[in-house]
Amino acid sequence: MQPDLTRLDPVTIRAMLDWQAELGADEAIGDSPCDRYAEPAEAPFSGAVKRPAPPAAPTPKLAPPSAAPAPAVDAMAEARHLAAAAHDLAALAEAEAGFDHCELKRGARNFVFADGNPAARVMILGEAPGREEDIQGKPFVGRAGQLLDRMFAAIDLARGSPDPAHALYISNIMPWRPPGNRDPDPAEIAMMMPFVERHVALADPDVIVLMGNTPCAALLGKRGILRLRGHWTQALGKPVLPMTHPAYLLRNPAAKREAWADLLSLRSRLREVT
Ligand code: URA
Repeated sequence: MQPDLTRLDPVTIRAMLDWQAELGADEAIGDSPCDRYAEPAEAPFSGAVKRPAPPAAPTPKLAPPSAAPAPAVDAMAEARHLAAAAHDLAALAEAEAGFDHCELKRGARNFVFADGNPAARVMILGEAPGREEDIQGKPFVGRAGQLLDRMFAAIDLARGSPDPAHALYISNIMPWRPPGNRDPDPAEIAMMMPFVERHVALADPDVIVLMGNTPCAALLGKRGILRLRGHWTQALGKPVLPMTHPAYLLRNPAAKREAWADLLSLRSRLREVT
């Protein structure tokens, strides 16, 4: 039996909404309420006499099942092929946007490729777009992104700078928002890695900053950002610095002290690497 939605108390309504949000339905898609529990209305009787159904068409003969099943699409091979064929960032963005094998694409509103100056010495790799990024089609534009901008401005780096020495180039491991902002799973990350690798090769930054666990899992094969942060290492032929994600810093302001130490370490590294 369907619940009578008009009689539910506010606590139950809240619990139902929280449950929807946990499933990933965290946005209203229409302005008028719609009772999806309602039975479809019966078509009113029009008085018309039902015509007899036309004779059934002969059932087409099915081909006998072949011994070998159709080969499954090798999504990673296709990603590798598309990425390798892209000779500049615009071509890579187009190829990645058109890649249809990642389920996250179906739930996302926009494809989020990158923002900032592609000639920047510093490339930041985050995890995946959140709600704001999905709406605007740009990485790190929500609350965490605004903190990221302030953090890097403190060492004189900005995504809007035309000067590569003071600029940032920002992207994510995943170009589509995962439902409910869940972490991308290892298979999703692996599938998109050829695009990430090509993105780094084409942008060719001097250093890469890995924001949070997902890019560390993707590039270093390790998680545990609170242990990894601040320790320079190498990946994809570049010096990389793991840092705590600004979303974590918003929830744990005390961790900003270590993030500041990491920013200073980045600044001195940039002075060394010419
Ligand atoms: N968090 C990320 O890791 N990337 C974004 O683009 C936004 C939030």
